[in-house]
Amino acid sequence: MKDLIIVIFGSTGDLTSRKLLPAISRLYKKKELPKETMIIALGRKPISTEEYLEMVNNQSSQKLDTLGLSKLVTYHHMDVLDFNTYQPLCDMINAEKHENTRELYYLALSTELFSDVTNHINKSNLVTIGNLNQSIIFEKPFGHDLFSAKEINQMLWNYFDEKQIYRIDHYLGKEMIQNIMMVRFANRIFEEIWHNRTIKSVKIIAKETDGILGRAGYYDQLGALRDMVQSHLLQILSLVAMEVPVTYHSDDVKDEKIKVLNHLHFDVDSLILGQYDGYLNEKNIPENSTTETFVFFKAYVNTPRFKGVPFYLMSGKKLDKKESLIEIEFEETSEQRKWNLPLSTNKLFIKIAPEDGMGLVLNSKVPGLRDDVEPVELEYCVACNEFGNLTEAYEKLIIDIVGQHKTLLTRWDEIELSWHFIDHIKKYRKDLVIYKDYNELKKLIKELTNEEMK
Ligand code: BG6
Repeated sequence: MKDLIIVIFGSTGDLTSRKLLPAISRLYKKKELPKETMIIALGRKPISTEEYLEMVNNQSSQKLDTLGLSKLVTYHHMDVLDFNTYQPLCDMINAEKHENTRELYYLALSTELFSDVTNHINKSNLVTIGNLNQSIIFEKPFGHDLFSAKEINQMLWNYFDEKQIYRIDHYLGKEMIQNIMMVRFANRIFEEIWHNRTIKSVKIIAKETDGILGRAGYYDQLGALRDMVQSHLLQILSLVAMEVPVTYHSDDVKDEKIKVLNHLHFDVDSLILGQYDGYLNEKNIPENSTTETFVFFKAYVNTPRFKGVPFYLMSGKKLDKKESLIEIEFEETSEQRKWNLPLSTNKLFIKIAPEDGMGLVLNSKVPGLRDDVEPVELEYCVACNEFGNLTEAYEKLIIDIVGQHKTLLTRWDEIELSWHFIDHIKKYRKDLVIYKDYNELKKLIKELTNEEMK
């Protein structure tokens, strides 16, 4: 009898091979999952478990521990869109589970399939409404605008209790995003100055060097605003800008994040939408596609704490390097002006990827005989201390879901408000800037906002 059963719908896809299976196998090795764990991988191809594991191993950029996984995984061949194929799956699960088995139903599928699959899951009694041992997990994108997101959500509420629903935004599982609250609230030096009297600007950046990596069908429907900003960047922004939650409890934190999203405004004039040169030549991209692969804009959070502080959000593909970070810039001191010192500012960097860590830029005297001042950076690298054992986002998220903790999962109202914001920006379509090089975009940003981007 199994204590944990994870059923993966869409188990032959990219997400399963690149993220889910590696995370599950690492957690199992670290003994973070029950000894009696079973993974049921569902797919349409009539192949054996061995062939399945070989296939996902070839698909994955990192080598999978296929030997370890073969003890956990059972590949089950079925068409998840055909209701008639659900009974054998139910029988298999019923034969393996006991009264307290934790069951996770992971929909690693594209949004269009959510409706049919959840309907079948419900009709076949695979998941019973209100049974909190059974959870259903969704990946972003949760719809492609507010209307479609509402439709999906309503459908979920018809079939499941909200407490059974887990909506994943994998950025929330990243070490340094979890750390935002600790940095803010467990450090006197930051907690006291986290407001518009001392913070000059906030930059939230997610740059990638890759293009769309063969995901044309998915990406061309969304573009950078809906793929990255609606989810990852707005989640970061709300953690940076929120008020102090009453407790660390999931709903208290989300209540504060919601208030930020409710007070978010964007500056139309600052909006830049770009498309990398060559995007139209990518396989399966329509020749006249106007999907943006780069987005930049300035936003304001009109709360007493952050009123007037510009938040610069930027994300794009085919840029100079892979780098996700938050840059918080502080105001100069009055002495810097009075004493005619260089006006370089203090900055706090929260580095999300590829290196997780922090940097704090301070002004310091240049060593030697003169009184010159120069900026110096104090650095903390999380991965350096963890000797390559840093927990991956998906490991943390899976553990939280198994344990029924929702702090790092997104609640419906967060998704609703972020779509509302993105739909509003979408109304202001601008001419696309076709870029070859990140420097062209940096120059444009400087011209528009006078801001220097990293
Ligand atoms: C995903 C987006 O959510 O995040 C991708 O769909 C993007 O387009 C990816 O490449 C970036 O995630 P990470 O963890 O590699 O920074």
